[in-house]
Amino acid sequence: MRLGTMTKNSPQWDNHTMTITYKDAEGIAGMRVAGRLAAELLDYLAPFVKPGVTTNELDKLADAYTTQVQHAISAPLNYAPSGHNPYPKAICTSINHQVCHGIPNDKPLKKGDIVNIDVTVIKDGWHGDSSRMFMVGDVSVAAKRLCTLTYEAMWHGIVKVKAGAYLGDIGHAIQTFAEGHGLSVVREFCGHGIGRNFHEEPQILHYGRPGTLDQLKAGMTITIEPMLNTGRKEIKELGDGWTIVTKDRSLSAQWEHTVLVTETGYEVLTLSAGSPPIPSFVSVVAPASAPSSATV
Ligand code: MF3
Ligand code: CO
Ligand code: CO
Repeated sequence: MRLGTMTKNSPQWDNHTMTITYKDAEGIAGMRVAGRLAAELLDYLAPFVKPGVTTNELDKLADAYTTQVQHAISAPLNYAPSGHNPYPKAICTSINHQVCHGIPNDKPLKKGDIVNIDVTVIKDGWHGDSSRMFMVGDVSVAAKRLCTLTYEAMWHGIVKVKAGAYLGDIGHAIQTFAEGHGLSVVREFCGHGIGRNFHEEPQILHYGRPGTLDQLKAGMTITIEPMLNTGRKEIKELGDGWTIVTKDRSLSAQWEHTVLVTETGYEVLTLSAGSPPIPSFVSVVAPASAPSSATV
């Protein structure tokens, strides 16, 4: 989501809840289901991401699967934060130098492209939000490296999540890892609280200093969704009012998980059979009650 306070011309998202919500057992159960469905939607789309497919075709497949198979709702469709025209599609598809919120169209993907597919599913009123990078055929070494490092950067943020940890701890972990590998962190877009609303407080910055900003509490559900560029961090918005691109046209990548804050750590809610392997620096314990979740 767009950072609310730091940039000019960036109104808060319309249905942005200005208070933090805490999920009780019933809310957590609802968020687990929504999160799993978002992950399974990405699993479903994965084999279709091939040279020649159009992003409009992926969008149609996604909306049909969400509504007809999952009996859920595509949250992006007609999403209309103030200052924005309603988002016209069910998913976001951001290709190469596109940072986020790319709108599906009739242009075929081609070998060598990298594409982020960002999906948000609403089930029983709860939102699950996740995105992954897909490589279309063989891609350059630089593009592959960017996708892999951005995935690891997201997980460096996730492992900081625990009741009592500071939001600045998450941002710092991501920024340090990214910049240590020569990548830049997009500033204007951030993760967010999520629940009955698509975008809730707090904003989760992907840069920062340890021990700063608010402390996490158990029962919060948040997204971590870093956007990293091979070039400079600056971005601009295209004339369609949605698509964000790197100003220098360098490649950009993003990954996103929805995460529950627990007393002892976290539970990743947007995992599924098709999720990429969790990096080896993450210690994973899968509890009997939630076999598809990474928790600590
Ligand atoms: N899924 C995006 C996020 O991670 C938001 C997309 S808003 C849309 O917060 F309207 F572009 F879909
Ligand atoms: Co999000
Ligand atoms: Co998203």
